[in-house]
Amino acid sequence: VRTLRIGLCGLGTVGQGVWKHLTADRPELEARLGVKLELARGAVRNPKKRRSVRIPASKLTTDALAIARDPSIDIVCELVGGTDLAREITLEALRRGKVVVSANKALICAHGAEIFATAREHGGRFLFEASVAGGIPIIKALREGLVANRFPLIYGILNGTCNYILTQMEERDAPYTQVLGDAKRLGYAEADESLDVEGWDAAHKASVLAYLAHGVWVRPEQMIVEGIARITPADFKNANALGFGIKLLAVIWRDFETNELSVRVHPTLLPESHVVAKVNGVFNAISVQGDVVGTTLYIGRGAGQDATASAVISDIVDAVALLRRQKGEMIDGDFIETTARRQAPP
Ligand code: NDP
Ligand code: HSE
Repeated sequence: VRTLRIGLCGLGTVGQGVWKHLTADRPELEARLGVKLELARGAVRNPKKRRSVRIPASKLTTDALAIARDPSIDIVCELVGGTDLAREITLEALRRGKVVVSANKALICAHGAEIFATAREHGGRFLFEASVAGGIPIIKALREGLVANRFPLIYGILNGTCNYILTQMEERDAPYTQVLGDAKRLGYAEADESLDVEGWDAAHKASVLAYLAHGVWVRPEQMIVEGIARITPADFKNANALGFGIKLLAVIWRDFETNELSVRVHPTLLPESHVVAKVNGVFNAISVQGDVVGTTLYIGRGAGQDATASAVISDIVDAVALLRRQKGEMIDGDFIETTARRQAPP
Protein backbone atom coordinates (compact mmCIF):
# COMPACT_ATOMS: atom_id res chain seq x y z
CA VAL A 1 0.00 0.00 0.00
CA ARG A 2 1.30 3.41 -0.98
CA THR A 3 2.04 6.04 1.69
CA LEU A 4 0.99 9.69 1.41
CA ARG A 5 2.72 12.19 3.67
CA ILE A 6 0.95 14.97 5.56
CA GLY A 7 2.53 18.11 6.98
CA LEU A 8 0.61 19.83 9.77
CA CYS A 9 1.46 23.52 9.96
CA GLY A 10 0.11 24.31 13.42
CA LEU A 11 -0.43 21.86 16.27
CA GLY A 12 -2.71 23.92 18.49
CA THR A 13 -6.34 23.09 19.29
CA VAL A 14 -7.20 21.93 15.76
CA GLY A 15 -3.83 20.48 14.74
CA GLN A 16 -3.65 18.28 17.82
CA GLY A 17 -7.21 17.11 17.17
CA VAL A 18 -6.25 16.07 13.64
CA TRP A 19 -3.15 14.30 14.96
CA LYS A 20 -5.18 12.50 17.65
CA HIS A 21 -7.86 11.19 15.29
CA LEU A 22 -5.52 10.29 12.44
CA THR A 23 -3.37 8.20 14.80
CA ALA A 24 -6.40 6.49 16.40
CA ASP A 25 -7.24 2.94 15.39
CA ARG A 26 -9.83 3.50 12.65
CA PRO A 27 -9.82 0.58 10.19
CA GLU A 28 -12.89 1.90 8.36
CA LEU A 29 -11.07 5.16 7.64
CA GLU A 30 -8.04 3.25 6.36
CA ALA A 31 -10.32 1.18 4.13
CA ARG A 32 -11.87 4.36 2.77
CA LEU A 33 -8.47 5.92 2.07
CA GLY A 34 -6.84 3.00 0.25
CA VAL A 35 -3.40 4.39 1.15
CA LYS A 36 -1.37 4.74 4.32
CA LEU A 37 -1.19 8.23 5.74
CA GLU A 38 1.98 9.33 7.47
CA LEU A 39 1.95 12.36 9.77
CA ALA A 40 5.39 13.30 8.54
CA ARG A 41 6.08 16.74 10.00
CA GLY A 42 4.50 19.35 12.23
CA ALA A 43 5.27 23.06 12.57
CA VAL A 44 4.85 24.96 15.83
CA ARG A 45 6.05 28.21 17.35
CA ASN A 46 7.35 26.56 20.51
CA PRO A 47 8.52 22.93 20.18
CA LYS A 48 8.95 22.65 23.97
CA LYS A 49 5.28 23.34 24.72
CA ARG A 50 3.35 20.45 26.34
CA ARG A 51 0.74 19.03 23.99
CA SER A 52 -2.19 16.69 24.47
CA VAL A 53 -0.85 14.25 21.87
CA ARG A 54 2.57 12.57 21.74
CA ILE A 55 4.51 13.97 18.81
CA PRO A 56 8.13 12.82 18.30
CA ALA A 57 10.46 15.83 18.69
CA SER A 58 12.21 14.76 15.46
CA LYS A 59 9.01 15.56 13.51
CA LEU A 60 8.68 19.11 14.84
CA THR A 61 10.01 22.25 13.21
CA THR A 62 9.47 25.95 13.75
CA ASP A 63 9.77 26.52 9.99
CA ALA A 64 6.25 26.09 8.64
CA LEU A 65 7.28 27.22 5.16
CA ALA A 66 9.81 24.37 4.99
CA ILE A 67 6.85 21.98 5.24
CA ALA A 68 5.06 23.78 2.41
CA ARG A 69 8.22 23.48 0.27
CA ASP A 70 9.12 19.89 1.22
CA PRO A 71 8.81 17.81 -1.97
CA SER A 72 8.10 14.66 0.06
CA ILE A 73 4.94 16.16 1.60
CA ASP A 74 1.77 15.53 -0.41
CA ILE A 75 -0.86 17.27 1.73
CA VAL A 76 -0.21 20.46 3.70
CA CYS A 77 -2.65 21.38 6.48
CA GLU A 78 -2.58 25.10 7.23
CA LEU A 79 -3.70 25.33 10.86
CA VAL A 80 -1.58 28.22 12.13
CA GLY A 81 -4.33 30.84 11.88
CA GLY A 82 -3.89 34.53 11.00
CA THR A 83 -3.49 35.76 7.45
CA ASP A 84 0.23 36.44 6.85
CA LEU A 85 2.17 33.23 7.46
CA ALA A 86 -0.98 31.27 6.58
CA ARG A 87 -1.09 32.95 3.15
CA GLU A 88 2.61 32.24 2.53
CA ILE A 89 2.27 28.58 3.51
CA THR A 90 -0.81 28.16 1.34
CA LEU A 91 0.59 29.85 -1.77
CA GLU A 92 3.99 28.13 -1.42
CA ALA A 93 2.34 24.70 -1.28
CA LEU A 94 -0.16 25.41 -4.07
CA ARG A 95 2.62 26.65 -6.38
CA ARG A 96 4.16 23.21 -5.95
CA GLY A 97 0.90 21.55 -6.98
CA LYS A 98 0.16 20.22 -3.50
CA VAL A 99 -3.20 19.89 -1.83
CA VAL A 100 -3.71 22.41 0.96
CA VAL A 101 -6.32 21.82 3.66
CA SER A 102 -7.21 24.86 5.76
CA ALA A 103 -9.60 25.76 8.58
CA ASN A 104 -8.81 29.44 8.20
CA LYS A 105 -11.83 31.57 7.31
CA ALA A 106 -9.96 34.85 7.89
CA LEU A 107 -7.38 33.74 5.32
CA ILE A 108 -10.02 32.77 2.75
CA CYS A 109 -11.92 35.99 3.26
CA ALA A 110 -8.79 38.13 2.86
CA HIS A 111 -6.96 36.17 0.13
CA GLY A 112 -9.47 33.69 -1.30
CA ALA A 113 -9.33 35.11 -4.84
CA GLU A 114 -5.51 34.89 -4.95
CA ILE A 115 -5.51 31.41 -3.39
CA PHE A 116 -8.05 29.94 -5.82
CA ALA A 117 -6.25 31.56 -8.78
CA THR A 118 -2.91 30.14 -7.63
CA ALA A 119 -4.41 26.69 -7.20
CA ARG A 120 -5.88 26.84 -10.72
CA GLU A 121 -2.63 28.07 -12.26
CA HIS A 122 -0.38 25.44 -10.68
CA GLY A 123 -2.68 22.43 -10.45
CA GLY A 124 -2.83 22.56 -6.65
CA ARG A 125 -6.04 22.15 -4.69
CA PHE A 126 -7.39 24.13 -1.75
CA LEU A 127 -9.92 22.47 0.57
CA PHE A 128 -11.59 24.31 3.44
CA GLU A 129 -14.49 22.39 4.95
CA ALA A 130 -13.43 23.27 8.52
CA SER A 131 -13.43 27.00 7.84
CA VAL A 132 -17.18 27.46 8.37
CA ALA A 133 -19.31 26.01 11.18
CA GLY A 134 -16.77 23.55 12.59
CA GLY A 135 -18.03 20.00 12.19
CA ILE A 136 -21.06 20.81 10.01
CA PRO A 137 -20.29 19.88 6.37
CA ILE A 138 -21.81 23.10 5.04
CA ILE A 139 -19.17 23.67 2.34
CA LYS A 140 -19.90 20.26 0.84
CA ALA A 141 -23.63 20.91 1.18
CA LEU A 142 -23.43 24.15 -0.83
CA ARG A 143 -20.91 22.93 -3.41
CA GLU A 144 -22.22 19.42 -3.92
CA GLY A 145 -25.49 18.41 -2.28
CA LEU A 146 -27.33 21.62 -3.16
CA VAL A 147 -25.63 22.31 -6.51
CA ALA A 148 -28.99 22.41 -8.34
CA ASN A 149 -30.10 25.44 -6.32
CA ARG A 150 -29.90 29.19 -6.17
CA PHE A 151 -29.93 30.57 -2.63
CA PRO A 152 -32.26 33.48 -1.83
CA LEU A 153 -31.54 33.19 1.91
CA ILE A 154 -28.87 31.64 4.09
CA TYR A 155 -28.81 32.54 7.76
CA GLY A 156 -27.72 31.15 11.07
CA ILE A 157 -25.37 30.94 13.99
CA LEU A 158 -21.82 30.79 12.66
CA ASN A 159 -19.75 31.47 15.78
CA GLY A 160 -19.57 28.84 18.51
CA THR A 161 -17.83 31.09 21.02
CA CYS A 162 -20.55 33.74 20.85
CA ASN A 163 -23.35 31.19 21.04
CA TYR A 164 -21.64 29.58 24.04
CA ILE A 165 -21.32 32.96 25.76
CA LEU A 166 -24.91 34.02 25.00
CA THR A 167 -26.25 30.68 26.23
CA GLN A 168 -24.30 30.80 29.48
CA MET A 169 -25.33 34.41 30.09
CA GLU A 170 -28.99 33.63 29.42
CA GLU A 171 -29.26 30.28 31.22
CA ARG A 172 -26.88 30.77 34.14
CA ASP A 173 -26.77 34.53 34.41
CA ALA A 174 -22.97 34.07 34.13
CA PRO A 175 -20.80 37.18 33.79
CA TYR A 176 -19.60 37.89 30.26
CA THR A 177 -15.85 37.99 31.01
CA GLN A 178 -15.93 34.73 32.96
CA VAL A 179 -17.75 32.89 30.16
CA LEU A 180 -15.40 34.30 27.55
CA GLY A 181 -12.49 32.93 29.63
CA ASP A 182 -14.19 29.51 29.65
CA ALA A 183 -14.65 29.60 25.86
CA LYS A 184 -10.93 30.32 25.47
CA ARG A 185 -9.94 27.48 27.80
CA LEU A 186 -12.22 25.09 25.92
CA GLY A 187 -10.44 25.92 22.65
CA TYR A 188 -13.48 27.55 21.00
CA ALA A 189 -12.19 31.12 20.70
CA GLU A 190 -9.80 32.55 18.13
CA ALA A 191 -6.24 33.43 19.25
CA ASP A 192 -7.54 37.01 19.10
CA GLU A 193 -10.93 36.60 20.74
CA SER A 194 -12.11 40.05 19.64
CA LEU A 195 -12.62 38.42 16.22
CA ASP A 196 -15.31 36.26 17.84
CA VAL A 197 -17.08 38.69 20.13
CA GLU A 198 -16.98 41.67 17.76
CA GLY A 199 -18.62 39.59 15.00
CA TRP A 200 -15.67 39.49 12.58
CA ASP A 201 -15.25 35.73 12.65
CA ALA A 202 -18.91 35.22 11.74
CA ALA A 203 -18.46 37.87 9.03
CA HIS A 204 -15.46 35.96 7.60
CA LYS A 205 -17.58 32.81 7.48
CA ALA A 206 -20.54 34.67 5.95
CA SER A 207 -18.16 35.98 3.30
CA VAL A 208 -17.02 32.43 2.45
CA LEU A 209 -20.63 31.19 2.26
CA ALA A 210 -21.67 34.19 0.16
CA TYR A 211 -18.83 33.45 -2.26
CA LEU A 212 -19.85 29.80 -2.57
CA ALA A 213 -23.53 30.68 -2.97
CA HIS A 214 -23.24 33.75 -5.21
CA GLY A 215 -19.70 33.83 -6.63
CA VAL A 216 -18.80 37.28 -5.30
CA TRP A 217 -16.47 38.32 -2.51
CA VAL A 218 -18.19 40.53 0.04
CA ARG A 219 -15.63 41.97 2.45
CA PRO A 220 -16.50 42.31 6.15
CA GLU A 221 -15.85 46.07 5.79
CA GLN A 222 -18.74 46.13 3.28
CA MET A 223 -21.12 44.42 5.73
CA ILE A 224 -23.03 45.57 8.78
CA VAL A 225 -21.10 43.76 11.52
CA GLU A 226 -22.06 43.97 15.18
CA GLY A 227 -20.89 41.51 17.83
CA ILE A 228 -22.10 40.52 21.28
CA ALA A 229 -19.73 42.51 23.49
CA ARG A 230 -22.37 45.07 24.43
CA ILE A 231 -25.17 42.63 25.29
CA THR A 232 -26.12 42.76 28.97
CA PRO A 233 -28.21 40.56 31.30
CA ALA A 234 -30.93 43.22 31.07
CA ASP A 235 -31.18 42.58 27.30
CA PHE A 236 -31.94 38.91 27.95
CA LYS A 237 -34.49 39.80 30.61
CA ASN A 238 -36.32 42.17 28.26
CA ALA A 239 -36.16 39.79 25.29
CA ASN A 240 -37.37 36.82 27.36
CA ALA A 241 -40.25 38.84 28.78
CA LEU A 242 -41.47 39.36 25.20
CA GLY A 243 -41.00 35.66 24.29
CA PHE A 244 -37.74 36.11 22.38
CA GLY A 245 -34.15 34.88 22.67
CA ILE A 246 -31.01 36.65 21.43
CA LYS A 247 -28.71 35.00 18.88
CA LEU A 248 -25.78 36.35 16.88
CA LEU A 249 -26.93 35.68 13.33
CA ALA A 250 -25.18 35.94 10.00
CA VAL A 251 -27.62 36.65 7.16
CA ILE A 252 -26.92 36.31 3.44
CA TRP A 253 -29.91 37.54 1.48
CA ARG A 254 -30.16 37.77 -2.30
CA ASP A 255 -32.95 39.21 -4.42
CA PHE A 256 -32.63 37.53 -7.81
CA GLU A 257 -35.05 40.00 -9.39
CA THR A 258 -33.05 43.12 -8.53
CA ASN A 259 -29.71 41.31 -8.04
CA GLU A 260 -29.34 42.91 -4.63
CA LEU A 261 -27.10 40.99 -2.21
CA SER A 262 -26.97 41.77 1.50
CA VAL A 263 -24.55 40.11 3.93
CA ARG A 264 -24.62 41.09 7.59
CA VAL A 265 -23.89 39.90 11.13
CA HIS A 266 -25.68 41.15 14.24
CA PRO A 267 -27.45 40.10 17.43
CA THR A 268 -31.02 39.19 16.52
CA LEU A 269 -34.24 38.64 18.46
CA LEU A 270 -35.69 35.24 17.58
CA PRO A 271 -39.01 33.90 18.89
CA GLU A 272 -38.22 31.31 21.59
CA SER A 273 -40.16 28.71 19.57
CA HIS A 274 -37.88 29.18 16.51
CA VAL A 275 -35.69 26.13 15.92
CA VAL A 276 -32.53 28.26 15.68
CA ALA A 277 -33.35 29.97 18.99
CA LYS A 278 -33.14 26.54 20.63
CA VAL A 279 -29.60 25.88 19.39
CA ASN A 280 -27.41 26.44 22.43
CA GLY A 281 -23.82 26.28 23.62
CA VAL A 282 -21.02 25.81 21.11
CA PHE A 283 -23.47 24.55 18.48
CA ASN A 284 -23.99 26.33 15.18
CA ALA A 285 -27.12 26.26 13.02
CA ILE A 286 -27.44 27.17 9.36
CA SER A 287 -30.70 27.46 7.48
CA VAL A 288 -30.25 27.32 3.71
CA GLN A 289 -33.14 28.19 1.46
CA GLY A 290 -32.67 26.72 -2.01
CA ASP A 291 -35.01 27.58 -4.87
CA VAL A 292 -35.26 23.93 -5.88
CA VAL A 293 -35.01 21.99 -2.63
CA GLY A 294 -36.72 24.44 -0.26
CA THR A 295 -35.25 24.97 3.20
CA THR A 296 -32.62 22.67 4.68
CA LEU A 297 -31.21 23.08 8.18
CA TYR A 298 -27.84 22.06 9.58
CA ILE A 299 -27.02 21.90 13.29
CA GLY A 300 -23.83 20.72 14.95
CA ARG A 301 -20.78 21.70 16.95
CA GLY A 302 -19.38 24.88 15.45
CA ALA A 303 -16.01 24.99 17.22
CA GLY A 304 -13.66 22.93 19.34
CA GLN A 305 -10.98 20.34 18.78
CA ASP A 306 -12.90 17.23 17.77
CA ALA A 307 -15.63 18.82 15.65
CA THR A 308 -13.08 20.79 13.68
CA ALA A 309 -10.72 17.83 13.32
CA SER A 310 -13.66 15.88 11.85
CA ALA A 311 -14.01 18.48 9.08
CA VAL A 312 -10.24 18.71 8.43
CA ILE A 313 -10.01 14.93 8.15
CA SER A 314 -12.89 14.88 5.67
CA ASP A 315 -10.82 17.23 3.49
CA ILE A 316 -7.75 15.03 3.95
CA VAL A 317 -9.77 12.06 2.71
CA ASP A 318 -10.86 14.11 -0.33
CA ALA A 319 -7.23 15.13 -0.83
CA VAL A 320 -6.17 11.49 -0.91
CA ALA A 321 -8.82 10.70 -3.52
CA LEU A 322 -7.63 13.65 -5.64
CA LEU A 323 -4.00 12.57 -5.42
CA ARG A 324 -4.86 8.98 -6.26
CA ARG A 325 -6.85 10.10 -9.31
CA GLN A 326 -3.91 12.26 -10.39
CA LYS A 327 -1.79 9.09 -10.37
CA GLY A 328 -4.41 7.36 -12.48
CA GLU A 329 -5.38 5.02 -9.66
CA MET A 330 -8.90 3.64 -9.56
CA ILE A 331 -10.78 4.87 -6.52
CA ASP A 332 -12.63 2.07 -4.84
CA GLY A 333 -16.25 2.72 -5.80
CA ASP A 334 -17.57 0.28 -3.25
CA PHE A 335 -15.99 1.90 -0.22
CA ILE A 336 -19.37 2.38 1.41
CA GLU A 337 -19.96 -1.35 1.20
CA THR A 338 -16.44 -2.02 2.51
CA THR A 339 -16.99 0.37 5.41
CA ALA A 340 -20.40 -1.08 6.15
CA ARG A 341 -18.94 -4.60 6.18
CA ARG A 342 -16.22 -3.61 8.59
CA GLN A 343 -18.63 -1.87 10.92
CA ALA A 344 -21.32 -4.52 10.85
CA PRO A 345 -21.95 -6.22 14.20
CA PRO A 346 -20.67 -9.83 14.31
P1 NDP B 1 -4.13 27.66 18.03
O1 NDP B 1 -3.72 29.03 18.38
O2 NDP B 1 -4.58 26.72 19.10
O3 NDP B 1 -2.94 26.92 17.24
C1 NDP B 1 -2.10 27.57 16.34
C2 NDP B 1 -0.90 26.67 16.08
O4 NDP B 1 -0.06 27.29 15.11
C3 NDP B 1 -0.03 26.43 17.32
O5 NDP B 1 0.42 25.10 17.32
C4 NDP B 1 1.14 27.39 17.14
O6 NDP B 1 2.34 26.93 17.73
C5 NDP B 1 1.28 27.35 15.60
N1 NDP B 1 1.92 28.56 15.11
C6 NDP B 1 1.48 29.84 15.24
N2 NDP B 1 2.35 30.69 14.66
C7 NDP B 1 3.35 29.94 14.16
C8 NDP B 1 4.56 30.24 13.47
N3 NDP B 1 4.91 31.51 13.18
N4 NDP B 1 5.35 29.22 13.10
C9 NDP B 1 5.02 27.93 13.39
N5 NDP B 1 3.89 27.58 14.04
C10 NDP B 1 3.07 28.58 14.43
O7 NDP B 1 -5.27 27.81 16.91
P2 NDP B 1 -6.45 26.79 16.57
O8 NDP B 1 -5.93 25.42 16.44
O9 NDP B 1 -7.60 27.06 17.46
O10 NDP B 1 -6.91 27.35 15.13
C11 NDP B 1 -6.16 27.09 13.96
C12 NDP B 1 -6.97 27.55 12.75
O11 NDP B 1 -8.21 26.84 12.72
C13 NDP B 1 -7.35 29.04 12.78
O12 NDP B 1 -7.35 29.51 11.46
C14 NDP B 1 -8.77 29.03 13.33
O13 NDP B 1 -9.51 30.14 12.93
C15 NDP B 1 -9.30 27.76 12.71
N6 NDP B 1 -10.42 27.15 13.40
C16 NDP B 1 -10.38 26.94 14.75
C17 NDP B 1 -11.41 26.30 15.38
C18 NDP B 1 -11.43 26.06 16.85
O14 NDP B 1 -12.45 25.60 17.37
N7 NDP B 1 -10.35 26.31 17.58
C19 NDP B 1 -12.59 25.85 14.64
C20 NDP B 1 -12.53 26.09 13.21
C21 NDP B 1 -11.47 26.72 12.64
P3 NDP B 1 2.49 26.74 19.33
O15 NDP B 1 1.56 25.60 19.67
O16 NDP B 1 3.89 26.40 19.58
O17 NDP B 1 2.04 28.05 19.93
N1 HSE C 1 -13.69 30.82 17.07
C1 HSE C 1 -14.54 30.11 16.18
C2 HSE C 1 -15.91 29.95 16.79
C3 HSE C 1 -13.95 28.78 15.87
O1 HSE C 1 -16.04 30.11 18.01
O2 HSE C 1 -16.87 29.68 16.07
C4 HSE C 1 -14.71 28.01 14.81
O3 HSE C 1 -14.55 28.60 13.56
